[in-house]
Amino acid sequence: SRSLPDVPAIVSPDEWDLRLGSPSKINLFLRVVGKRADGYHELASLMQSISLHDTLYFSVKTEKDGKPHEDSLECDNSDIPTDSSNLVLKAIEKFRSKTGIEKYFKVRLEKRVPHEAGLGGGSANAATALWAANQLSGKPCTAEQLAEFGADFGSDISFFLSEGTAYCTGRGEIMEFVPRLPPQALYIVKPYEGLSTAEVFKNMDLSECSEKDPRELLRKMQKGVIFADFVNDLETPSFRLMPRLKTLKEDLYKAGFNVVLMSGSGTSFFCLGQPWEEDFMEVFPAQHNVQVFKCFFHGRRYSDMWYFEHPP
Ligand code: C5P
Repeated sequence: SRSLPDVPAIVSPDEWDLRLGSPSKINLFLRVVGKRADGYHELASLMQSISLHDTLYFSVKTEKDGKPHEDSLECDNSDIPTDSSNLVLKAIEKFRSKTGIEKYFKVRLEKRVPHEAGLGGGSANAATALWAANQLSGKPCTAEQLAEFGADFGSDISFFLSEGTAYCTGRGEIMEFVPRLPPQALYIVKPYEGLSTAEVFKNMDLSECSEKDPRELLRKMQKGVIFADFVNDLETPSFRLMPRLKTLKEDLYKAGFNVVLMSGSGTSFFCLGQPWEEDFMEVFPAQHNVQVFKCFFHGRRYSDMWYFEHPP
């Protein structure tokens, strides 16, 4: 079953026009294949959405909300900025400027996906906000158009408007849809410390990258060789910036997993297979000062998503 786990409803969904899950992603492989004139790196990555998700609530602003011509955002995690620097509000602003539709939104974000994790949490929220703004405006845009709006302000946003599995190139925003991979359970392991994506790319040395042909990696994974070749070229610079990540990876292999790979620019790892210890979830996090989430691959098709819609 692909139903998502429930989260405590702090706010009754009836108070809102729309509630959407905002899944995160992992990079099953990530090759850095070059550096571009604009400073970005050319990537080739197989991305997969996973069930670890945030929840967002949206309503169209009305006179009774006060400030009807301003978006507002609240978040249950005070570490997350709720001003115009938040990608949710950038996404809504982008939607307005691209479509000319003068609607403003009230948004609540319930954050579960760790940030500075390489899981695309912020980008996913932006994609969800684009989707919500479109839904609540009579669906004037296609998913492809929303993905183009997203690419304007973040490399990962387009992916979250895909069907859940995509081969991504360019800055990460050019998507090639590939068939869904078989269902797979996984563990996400996240040290409390994070890394900034820009810092990791700055520390990258192209001569240290794997030589593996990304198309070949893609073919193998599609043939179902899921325990074959796992490579993330960003591990080298991330491990250099935070040496404890290398030790953590070794400890995860020692704990019994078949595959342990950093996702994106870190600092989280995804782990496939099963740990030796039955009480891994209780023991490992405290011993290693990490958060652990158990989740599974998830198709990001909004028609399948866990959401409530109350047309105004
Ligand atoms: O596009 P996004 O905001 O996610 O990227 C954050 C930073 O990571 C960029 O400013 C850039 O320095 C770096 N980056 C890169 N090559 C990419 C994606 C990101 O160098 N393909």
